[in-house]
Amino acid sequence: MEEPTHRREGAAVATTIPDISLNDGNTIPQLGFGVFQIKPKDTVEAVSKALEVGYRHIDTAEMYGNEAEVGQAVRTSGLDRGEVFVTSKLNNGFHRPDDARKAFDSTLSALKMDYIDLFLIHWPLPTLYDGDFVSTWKVLEEFQRDGRARSVGVSNFQVPHLRRLAAETSVVPAVNQIEAHPYFGNEEVRAYDREHNIITEAWSPIAQGKVLGDPTVVDIAEQLGRTPAQVVLRWHVQRGDIVFPKSTTPKRIEENFQIFDFELDDAAMERITELDKGEAGRQGSHPDTFDYVPR
Ligand SMILES: NC(=O)c1ccc[n+]([C@@H]2O[C@H](COP(=O)([O-])OP(=O)(O)OC[C@H]3O[C@@H](n4cnc5c(N)ncnc54)[C@H](OP(=O)(O)O)[C@@H]3O)[C@@H](O)[C@H]2O)c1
Repeated sequence: MEEPTHRREGAAVATTIPDISLNDGNTIPQLGFGVFQIKPKDTVEAVSKALEVGYRHIDTAEMYGNEAEVGQAVRTSGLDRGEVFVTSKLNNGFHRPDDARKAFDSTLSALKMDYIDLFLIHWPLPTLYDGDFVSTWKVLEEFQRDGRARSVGVSNFQVPHLRRLAAETSVVPAVNQIEAHPYFGNEEVRAYDREHNIITEAWSPIAQGKVLGDPTVVDIAEQLGRTPAQVVLRWHVQRGDIVFPKSTTPKRIEENFQIFDFELDDAAMERITELDKGEAGRQGSHPDTFDYVPR
């Protein structure tokens, strides 16, 4: 009998990763593997380990400088291209339409793939390009029309940015990838996403480790006999968001995968949600002012 796509035996517990339906009819595995801050020289090893453990969704970006190594790991994994969901993102220097077209070609060449599953505008950059992210979005629509991007979406878009796309374009982003974790629930953007059929992807889902020592998280983890990271990742998936924790530590890559064989009850969910510090909990850059352009 054939194995269902995301099911992996061999680990201590067989795990099935749920697929989430996107507004364009495609599906995406709810748990993936993030490669931000993984050096190119370490990327093949980390992604190969993740694929071996059972992850079937990799989140990279041109800005991370490791697209080529992600592509290499997928190719050498022995898996069919269609079994692995790959996301990349348009870098900040390439928002002008012609630059975006060239950048997308470079992303596919680096990955050595003829299509990508999901391509995102990495940051809205409202203070650059005369505040025009609409023309950039229309170029991503082209990539979807010509079949080289199966799905297209945005990252770090705030509610006014999303409203503007809704008013001036015809394709609703499939996802919005935003910072979200127990210290920064990002509820206003999540609510907009939910109401408009945009799936939220939560970046830095464990706040790069900063929420793992929180007494509430530790207490719940001890009660359930799980690790703090598993509890926090489980909280995200029960909220319906997509997560792709990053790790270069093999044991943690395994640990972060084992989050579909237990549940948080309503009380535990609420205790974690109440850790939200609002804006004070934000760890990364603010999308309204972020204007970094790599040279
Ligand atoms: N769109 C955007 O603007 C944006 C921004 C940031 C991130 N992202 C995406 O989101 C992904 C995840 O976010 P992130 O990389 O910022 O942070 P993260 O996944 O929240 O945390 C990664 C950090 O936590 C550690 N860690 C991982 N698993 C652990 C565990 N089980 N126990 C203890 N520590 C653990 C890792 O250490 P080791 O590696 O040493 O194990 C690493 O230092 C990125 O890789 C990227 O794909 C997107």
